Amino acid sequence: ETPRPLAGRRVLITSGPTHEPIDPVRYIANRSSGRQGHAIAAAAARAGAEVVLVSGPVTIPDPAGVAVVRVETAREMLAAVEAALPVDVAVMAAAVADWRVATAADAKIKKDGSGAVPGLALTENPDILRTVGHHVARPRLVIGFAAETNDVIANGTAKLARKGADVIVANDVSPAGGVMGGTRNTVHILSAAGVEDWPTMDKDAVAERLVALIAARLGDLG
Ligand code: C5P
Repeated sequence: ETPRPLAGRRVLITSGPTHEPIDPVRYIANRSSGRQGHAIAAAAARAGAEVVLVSGPVTIPDPAGVAVVRVETAREMLAAVEAALPVDVAVMAAAVADWRVATAADAKIKKDGSGAVPGLALTENPDILRTVGHHVARPRLVIGFAAETNDVIANGTAKLARKGADVIVANDVSPAGGVMGGTRNTVHILSAAGVEDWPTMDKDAVAERLVALIAARLGDLG
């Protein structure tokens, strides 16, 4: 019999990128495979949680035992996240585009032959983690990610307060590390308790250990 430390808990997870349309055939996106977020959803389900996974466009399969809500844009992701509240735990692992095109074109933008290029005026997307971290229905445990290419610990620590998160999982995504799209990850767990460096592991193992951390923290919260 496998232990089910998250039995009776409702867990919300975001994963994957968002796609922000430029016109009907083009978009802006972050690089994200969804592997880490989906692995966390699968691990939480195995631990007995009722899991809602809000996923941007990914090519990997849906995890077993999880309710999946598919979205394209950051605004759709925010709406799906708010619709899933209340939950006990929120893990925001999606790579949300910080900006979208202010006014996406209704029809494909065409070259006019003159060599003129379209200007893309951008506007800021909602910050989903920050919204959840300060929500009236704030989950008891709010966990964010910080994908950084430099000053990983300092940038991640700044996010704890700014986003209203209890834990930030900081990882180095500089291209040399192969984290993006890869199967392994090296993370640092940042919280009020300080910094915990985890060894490089498969994303599945990071997910397992994160679920153990979640169960321990929920236990402490009573
Ligand atoms: O500020 P930054 O994008 O680096 O923060 C990363 C964390 O914030 C991740 O947990 C990510 O899922 C979340 N985030 C979000 N909505 C945004 C931007 C980031 O939920 N618009």
